[in-house]
Amino acid sequence: MKTIIEPFRIKVVEPIKLTTRQQREDVLRKAGFNVFSIRAEDVLIDLLTDSGTGAMSSEQWAGIMRGDESYAGATSFFRFYDRVHELTGFEHVLPTHQGRASERILFEVLVREGMVVPNNNHFDTTRANVEHSGGEAVDLVIDEGHDPKSQHPFKGNMSIEKLEQLFEKVGPDRIPLVMLTVTNNSGGGQPVSMENIRAVRAVCDKHEKPFFLDACRFAENAYFIKLREEGYKDRSVAEIVREMFSYSDGATISAKKDGLVNIGGLLLFRDPDIAGEARNLLILTEGFSTYGGLAGRDLEAIAQGFEEVVHEDYLQYRIRSVAYLGDRLVAAGVPIIEPPGGHAIYIDAATFCSHIPPSGFPGQALVCGLYRHAGIRAVEIGSLMFGGDGATPEMELVRLAIPRRVYTQSHIDYVIEAVLEVFEHRDKLKPLKIIEQPQKLRHFTARLAEVGA
Ligand code: F0G
Repeated sequence: MKTIIEPFRIKVVEPIKLTTRQQREDVLRKAGFNVFSIRAEDVLIDLLTDSGTGAMSSEQWAGIMRGDESYAGATSFFRFYDRVHELTGFEHVLPTHQGRASERILFEVLVREGMVVPNNNHFDTTRANVEHSGGEAVDLVIDEGHDPKSQHPFKGNMSIEKLEQLFEKVGPDRIPLVMLTVTNNSGGGQPVSMENIRAVRAVCDKHEKPFFLDACRFAENAYFIKLREEGYKDRSVAEIVREMFSYSDGATISAKKDGLVNIGGLLLFRDPDIAGEARNLLILTEGFSTYGGLAGRDLEAIAQGFEEVVHEDYLQYRIRSVAYLGDRLVAAGVPIIEPPGGHAIYIDAATFCSHIPPSGFPGQALVCGLYRHAGIRAVEIGSLMFGGDGATPEMELVRLAIPRRVYTQSHIDYVIEAVLEVFEHRDKLKPLKIIEQPQKLRHFTARLAEVGA
């Protein structure tokens, strides 16, 4: 059999609304050509993010009913704890309301003014939280990670050479920890190899520094290791996950990705002293240590999600369905970051809209084109997101992030048709200009207008 089917059947459905082109035109204008300002009900296929947008299983919903809402020592916490401990091997497990809360607490404990935190690529909230603690966030992904056409199997790897150079340049005293993001979201959802994780660990050992994973998409990363790295073909994904975590001293996790839930996060430690400090901050700002920022029912849903996410039929379907979209776009000549990543396809908008310079926001022009033509919501990762204060981002990307277990193959076929039709008429996409923008994180609320419309 060649067809890889969705390994689930549908029990509950949620209607999505077809709109006319004229309606979408009106919505887009009202939203100031910013898709963050569009109401979700006006979107047909929502590929804005894979975070918190997945569908839960019947067992997860059953867990929601089972949730124990006791303030301290809830049964749901212990179910959550046991599952996380078994999956990751960590002793100290702190629940938080989402990934960035874990980041904020971790950096408040470890980072001080003038310190430098290396990562393959920081996600934007991770970078912002390092900076919030007075540190500088430095990205050290391998050179292949910057080349959209490179077929390197682990384009998310950190350059060990660049990491050593950084230790040399700033000195170990100013580097409080090393982080590694699996998979590397800001670098195109690309995986990191076990060999690279081991090599980063060795550098940390040499300099006696803690090593943390930003492990939002740990299961997708493990599945890529199984498929692509020598020696892992016959290992179970659960074993690979456990090995990945075994090399680190802790992890921040947004459960909104591979936790298969709509809200939740984790902060994990091996060291009891650092865990103790973090737990005090957790109690101060998130909640008591057996619920963090969550309800008991959320802990049940995460425990079950962590069970389901390492099932290999699920991961095969997940990785293949993202690749299905990517492969068809590549076959039709659409420029994307290759090979397809784990949770999203990233279109190279600078090449797609070669008639629009960065100052005309080529990525946002494509985002608006996809919404106008087909009601699809994507997100710009380029000059609008990162180009404030005169900065020029390295790439102009549009991310099509695939929510987990939400869309079927025919939805994805529709997305492929839509992208190809917009590609055929790409010369009609119009540059944009900013009319209004806030001081920081402008992509969320800026208002734009089409130039020459
Ligand atoms: N780290 C990575 C690699 C992420 O992708 C995200 C979130 C976070 C940390 C923060 O987690 O949202 O639970 O606070 N990424 C989402 C995205 C928002 O769309 O890629 P959070």
